[in-house]
Amino acid sequence: MIDQMSPIDRAKYAAAHCAADFVEDGMRVGLGTGSTAAWLVRRLGARVRDDGLRITAVPTSTRTAELAREVGIDVVTLEDARWLDVTIDGADEFDSELSLIKGGGGALLHEKIVATASDKMIVITDAAKEVKTLGAFALPVEVVPFGWQSTKKQIEDALETLDVMGRWSSLRMNGDMPYVTDEGNHILDLALGRIGNPRELALVLNQVPGVVENGLFVDIADRVVIGHSDGHCELRDLVGDTLQTTRRQVDLDAARNIFADI
Ligand code: A5P
Repeated sequence: MIDQMSPIDRAKYAAAHCAADFVEDGMRVGLGTGSTAAWLVRRLGARVRDDGLRITAVPTSTRTAELAREVGIDVVTLEDARWLDVTIDGADEFDSELSLIKGGGGALLHEKIVATASDKMIVITDAAKEVKTLGAFALPVEVVPFGWQSTKKQIEDALETLDVMGRWSSLRMNGDMPYVTDEGNHILDLALGRIGNPRELALVLNQVPGVVENGLFVDIADRVVIGHSDGHCELRDLVGDTLQTTRRQVDLDAARNIFADI
């Protein structure tokens, strides 16, 4: 199956496989949401089954929880775990300061709570998500359903004073109905084009009544693992203000064992 995978999927797999190596016996691990995180969960499941790895995991969505249980990972709630050693999750965009846009999969609220309740956050991604300036990907903002139109208007007004290129926002839909998150909220996707100051924008958005959380992750990620379709991955770490890059090769053959179970 791996031979039939698209280059992007191979890259996502490589990133997930690389990052899974940072998970050690006894760790409490936050599991992200999305297609890259799903490869991670499968890889960790294979390590639990084949290598006897013992971990407890806190998933960031019902989708991830289902998959984790399916592959034999011990799933607990964040209330039970309290604090995590590491969270590994995907992203929609990342920049050279390791700031992120997340929430394309609709799980940004749980993702941010879990990531910030962890000693470390590792991001797994393919190279296409690297940007000079965040904002080409529409920024997801989770809002309560009550009065969401007023919240949308207040967000658009607040954007007037901020360093962004566009100010258009739309309610995320699921067919004919508004998309509903695991917490029963809706998502507004903000087409900003360019976000000049992610830190400021994140603070302003969270002050609008009705906003629960936004998809900007600033000063949260510690490492980004970028997978490539040939099976190698780059590790980007912020050491002080300096970005350090190291390279690793992933054994893509190991993927066949995982795919054999799908
Ligand atoms: C989920 O809400 C998102 O934050 C995902 O982490 C993000 O959309 C990346 O998804 P993929 O791994 O599917 O590209």
